[in-house]
Amino acid sequence: MKETISVLIPEKEIDKRLNEMVETISSDFKGKTITIIGVLKGSVMLMVDIAKKLKQPVEFDFIDISSYGEGLTSSGNIKINKDIENSIEGKYVLLVEDIIDSGRTLNYLLNYLKSKKPASLKVCTLLDKPERRVFDISVNYIGFEIPDEFVVGYGLDYAQKYRNLPYIGTLEIEE
Ligand code: IMP
Ligand code: MG
Repeated sequence: MKETISVLIPEKEIDKRLNEMVETISSDFKGKTITIIGVLKGSVMLMVDIAKKLKQPVEFDFIDISSYGEGLTSSGNIKINKDIENSIEGKYVLLVEDIIDSGRTLNYLLNYLKSKKPASLKVCTLLDKPERRVFDISVNYIGFEIPDEFVVGYGLDYAQKYRNLPYIGTLEIEE
C-alpha cells in the first residue's frame, strides 16, 4: 500500500488564519481567564499555537474520547478514555478540536461539558467538513472549511501517523 500526501493548507496559511482567529477569541474572552480544553490527541498543535498567541491568562485541560479507531470512518461509539482534571464550573471554556466531521464527537462533548456548568462554553476547530455533518451543532471559531477528503498533519493522524506534519495534507491510499 502506498500512501501519498498532497499539501492542502500550507503552514504559513495556518499561521495567518490563527492570528485572525485569536484576535476574535481575545475580544470575545476579554478580561477573562480562558480554560482551554484540548481534545486529545488531534487538537494539540492547534491548542498550543493558539495559546502562545493569546495575551490573557490561560489554563489547560485535556479530554480524550474514542470515536474513530484506526480507520478512515467513524465507528459511532464514544467512550471517555481520559476526563478533564479540574472543575469547569463558572469557568470560561474554549473547547479545541482538530476537525468537525459528522459532529458526533462534538455533540457528545458539548452535552457532557455543559452538564459541568461552565460560565460559557465556546468551540474552536481548525477544520470543518460541513458536507459530512449529521449532528446539528454550532461552532464558534472555524479555521478552514474543507471538502470531504481525508486529511492528515498538524495534529491529525492516519493510524497514528503524520500528526507532526506542520501543514494539512490530503491522504491518498493506493492498494
Ligand atoms: P466526528 O465525530 O465525526 O465529527 O469526527 C471527529 C473526529 O474524527 C476528529 O476529531 C478526528 O479525530 C477524526 N477525523 C475526522 N475526519 C478526519 C480526517 O479527515 N483526518 C483525520 N481524522 C479525522
Ligand atoms: Mg479528534
